[in-house]
Amino acid sequence: MELLCVWLFFVTPLVISALPVEPKGDIRKQAATGKFWHVTDLHLDFSYHITGDHTKVCLSSKGANASNPGIFGDFLCDSPYQLILSAIQNIKDSEQKADFMIWTGDSPPHIPVNELSTKMVIDIIGNMSTTIHSFLPDLQVFPALGNHDYWPQDQFPVEASEIYTAVAEYWKPWLNEEALVTLRKGGYYSQIYKSSQTTQSLRIISLNTNLYYSPNKVTVNMTDPADQFEWLEETLKASRQNNEKVYVIAHVPVGFLPFAAFTAAMGVNFNERLVKIFRNYSDVISGQFYGHTHRDSIMVLLDENNEKPVGSVFVAPAVTPIRSLSESDGNNPGFRLYHYDTGCYNLLDLWHYYLNLTEANLKKEAIWKLEYIMTEIYKIKDLQPESLEELIQRFRKPDSIDFQNYYKNYVVHFDSIKGCDGLCKAVQVCSIQYLDRDSYIKCLKMYKLQ
Ligand SMILES: *[C@@H]1O[C@H](CO)[C@@H](O)[C@H](O)[C@H]1NC(C)=O
Ligand SMILES: *[C@@H]1O[C@H](CO)[C@@H](O)[C@H](O)[C@H]1NC(C)=O
Ligand SMILES: *[C@@H]1O[C@H](CO)[C@@H](O)[C@H](O)[C@H]1NC(C)=O
Ligand SMILES: [Zn+2]
Ligand SMILES: [Zn+2]
Repeated sequence: MELLCVWLFFVTPLVISALPVEPKGDIRKQAATGKFWHVTDLHLDFSYHITGDHTKVCLSSKGANASNPGIFGDFLCDSPYQLILSAIQNIKDSEQKADFMIWTGDSPPHIPVNELSTKMVIDIIGNMSTTIHSFLPDLQVFPALGNHDYWPQDQFPVEASEIYTAVAEYWKPWLNEEALVTLRKGGYYSQIYKSSQTTQSLRIISLNTNLYYSPNKVTVNMTDPADQFEWLEETLKASRQNNEKVYVIAHVPVGFLPFAAFTAAMGVNFNERLVKIFRNYSDVISGQFYGHTHRDSIMVLLDENNEKPVGSVFVAPAVTPIRSLSESDGNNPGFRLYHYDTGCYNLLDLWHYYLNLTEANLKKEAIWKLEYIMTEIYKIKDLQPESLEELIQRFRKPDSIDFQNYYKNYVVHFDSIKGCDGLCKAVQVCSIQYLDRDSYIKCLKMYKLQ
């Protein structure tokens, strides 16, 4: 694969010479870098408003007092519209010019099921889609559905439904007819990203992993809800035959949760099946991108012998700052930009941006800052599976500074008092390193004995 990238680089002199010369930088890297945004978990709380009675600031605090409400939100509430606007505006104003955006779902707020309805959920997804499209009219967006993008939440059906149909209408500006057909049927699709810079094709596969999410009672005993596994394997097989590269995007991530021991994000049998497919097609899949946990984490997919790293997996933190009262740590709002090699779509870097919510509310101004550049903060060469695997080996060492930085980024520089050692670190590290049941359980048991 490396050969292919280099080869493509040397045979595209027109593209290279068209770019401004950077005297000091690595010209090869400069010339071959593409970028894309990733935003997730916007969770608009339309009820958010500043008022003296802090139990009434937002429905999403579920009767609790908001902690320190300001115009950009509160750590016990979902996003006010202002916060979402400031994130999208910031992307619009950025000097970083991206080729496309991925948006991995969850638009409605965390409020009791009887305070929402199918119509409200549709309206909120419509609002977020329209907002993104009106601020960024020329940007190609690839969305995925989140477990909150349904009513009642999590209960995604395996056939056509009012919500799939409505969402397909809202996403028409971005998706082609072939993609819309499967979206209307099962909430998933795939589509080629057309680049002007390379003949190598990239296919985005947007999975509806909400079909595999444990709280989904509709699909709990099914082997292949909405025939998505079959479709995924056929799509990947065709991609391999056609020499395409693939980015997989979805809401609920594959693998195990970084904050709860022995808990997969989806139903464990569904997870096993998905891991197997991703291993079989690791030569085709150049990256996986998820949301849902609201935290910033990575995973590395190993081959079936648990020896060779074969896949890079990224979970992006939320725009919403909400946390439940039972959680000790929350997250500041964040979004990110990936850098990739335009020749072969290998991932090169990640720039993560965040908003210090407390400061923004105090100043009544939202200044989004660069939180970290992944290759710089961790001193790794790129985001390829081998580089991430090397980083994890450093994480495992006691008192690893790299892991301390990782945890700060995990909570998006939320003012964490507790940090992460002992079992907390074991759960984190094993979830990063092992995505299938047996090797994950073995890792956590061994780690405890150390
Ligand atoms: C909210 O704060 C007020 C004022 O401090 C207090 O009287 C009230 O009991 C609090 N309500 C809840 C639900 O914690
Ligand atoms: C989206 O919702 C916000 C907050 O409720 C509202 O102010 C705005 O007008 C809506 N925008 C669209 C495009 O529906
Ligand atoms: C799923 O299977 C279990 C065990 O056989 C059964 O108890 C449960 O009722 C089934 N659920 C559904 C929704 O079919
Ligand atoms: Zn969410
Ligand atoms: Zn979610």
